[in-house]
Amino acid sequence: MMRRGMSTVNNQMSSTLDANTSSCVQKLRDQLRFYAVAEIAGRPFLITQNDKVIVNRLNDVKVGDVLQLDRVRELGSKDYSLVGQPYVQDAVYDIQATVLEHTKSKMIQILTTLSNKVLDSRRLALLKNVVFLLVLYHYWGRFYAKVLVGGPVRALHDFKDHLKKIIFRQMRRIPSIQAKIDAELGKTITEMEESMFSKEGDIVHHHQLPAHGMTIDQVRDSLTKLQNMECADWKGGRVSGTIYHGGSELTDLLAEAYRMFAVANPLHPEVFPGIRRMEAESVAMVLNMYNAPATGCGTMTSGGTESIVMACKTYRDMYKDLKGITDPEMVVPVTIHAAFMKAAGYFNIKLITVPVDPVTYKVDVKRMEKAITRNTIMIAGSAVNFPHGIADDIVALGQLAKKRNIGLHVDCCLGSFIMPFLEKAGFPTTPFDFRVDGVTSISCDTHKYGFAAKGSSIIMYRYPSIRKYQYFLSADWTGGIYASPSVAGSRPGALIAGCWAALMKMGEDGYLDTCQQIIGTRRKIQEGIESIPQLHVKGSPIGPVVAFGAEESMNVYDVGDKLSSRGWNISPLQNPPALHISVTLLWVNSADQFVKDLKESVQELVTNPSSGKGSTASIYGTAASIPDKSIVEDVAASFIDLLYKA
Ligand SMILES: Cc1ncc(COP(=O)(O)O)c(C=O)c1O
Repeated sequence: MMRRGMSTVNNQMSSTLDANTSSCVQKLRDQLRFYAVAEIAGRPFLITQNDKVIVNRLNDVKVGDVLQLDRVRELGSKDYSLVGQPYVQDAVYDIQATVLEHTKSKMIQILTTLSNKVLDSRRLALLKNVVFLLVLYHYWGRFYAKVLVGGPVRALHDFKDHLKKIIFRQMRRIPSIQAKIDAELGKTITEMEESMFSKEGDIVHHHQLPAHGMTIDQVRDSLTKLQNMECADWKGGRVSGTIYHGGSELTDLLAEAYRMFAVANPLHPEVFPGIRRMEAESVAMVLNMYNAPATGCGTMTSGGTESIVMACKTYRDMYKDLKGITDPEMVVPVTIHAAFMKAAGYFNIKLITVPVDPVTYKVDVKRMEKAITRNTIMIAGSAVNFPHGIADDIVALGQLAKKRNIGLHVDCCLGSFIMPFLEKAGFPTTPFDFRVDGVTSISCDTHKYGFAAKGSSIIMYRYPSIRKYQYFLSADWTGGIYASPSVAGSRPGALIAGCWAALMKMGEDGYLDTCQQIIGTRRKIQEGIESIPQLHVKGSPIGPVVAFGAEESMNVYDVGDKLSSRGWNISPLQNPPALHISVTLLWVNSADQFVKDLKESVQELVTNPSSGKGSTASIYGTAASIPDKSIVEDVAASFIDLLYKA
């Protein structure tokens, strides 16, 4: 009989429960503790979890045996009981008893484990609820962060993109579609290969070492042929960024420094003390330029990417040590350099990108704040960024970093030797260096507007207590105690010598002069762009870069292709489509021609809108139309493969 008006159940040895039993079991599940009246050796025992009972001696059991109790007359709790006729269905419970000892009399002692199925189901239900709530919390957190950080429009857009991606991925699995995509990819790769190899002319290919070493003159001759393969007119100032040339006299000096220190390696300062001095002095000079406090310090690296990657690793290790953060996150503007994405991938740091204001193109600081969690180790801003040449609001970012007690890295890789001279050169500027409270690290590329040879950059920190987390130290390596400041082990001392030589040769007045020339040229180009009604400049650039988009009726990539056909090599941007020019010293004499060509190109497109189709429009147009960017990444990987095709 069931107490409290519950019905009785039949003792059917069936795994399925009838409706009454089910409803009764459901009620029992909601209770906390249970008892059972179970028959052991023919006698009923009232047992609860972990009870010890003494029963008549059982034949054939040993101490430690586990017995399944399958004759249960009643199952119950504080409020309900389920009474069998005579037994409760065994599908409902699972009761085990362990033989503890054989007593001297005819009795044995057993320990009951009342892990009946009622209990298990109740625990399972609880577990299910907890898991469900956790999953809900996880996805709600992600959705909430997306809406809060990216705004509802971006969140919806991302969601649609995500759906499209899933559908596209599934479709890609269909053999006929995969075959079509493979065929298209194959065509693209062949085109890329033809384009790459056609520029090489009839140069001799070498796939193995020459059996006998060549003479110096023969090698020199080959080098000249290889040099003559350069096809873009970079000397004429037709290439955006890329070549940061400080004049041929400086290049000769860099080559001389290279020759003098060709074998030097700063990993061995005891052998090359001069290299140690030049590296330390180069770091000190740049720290001074960026108004570092007396505690300021830094190291040299191989370039902007390594400086940024090192800063991210530094904050990761520092906050793991200081705050115990094991799932680090960094919050950066969507316009930050790809080096941060690389660092996030290398060091397993979650990267959260925050949109920029659609008018100023500066990062939205309020949204940045919303994206910060207790796992955030750092935020970052640029002065200036690569795509649009815009400086983020570093003061606001500094306040945020201080308030949340996290690192703030300012990427001045591109702003390098322009930003620190803007004020003196009489141009508008914005706070960006160590004078801004909250800035904890800055990267500055000596190999860009510092005019050093490629392969040098400086990463700076406010305190040595931050910098120490950048170091790699191994006290017990078989090869000896090992300590190195950055990714590379051995490093080219010759490049350090060249960097030091460039800084010394240029001096403050030299950089002030180049800043005036470069910013003057950027302004001239910007005015030219602004005078073309179909184009618009992105934000208000203050550095050497200017980016522009086109009105809706014109594809800006067509403008890029028109310029390409006139010998200009400028960079395409995406999201939204735009083109940019990183003005170098070489553009000082070509800016007027550029503006003229730009005006004519736009006019040609107005007259004949379909006349601009070229590779930029085709590559970026196709890329934009593919929801699954892994295809674009496949093409990019094939491109890198091609770079290593001898
Ligand atoms: C703003 C910014 N940061 C970082 C980098 C990365 O520098 P690098 O190419 O020397 O690694 C660049 C390169 O253009 C840049 O423009």
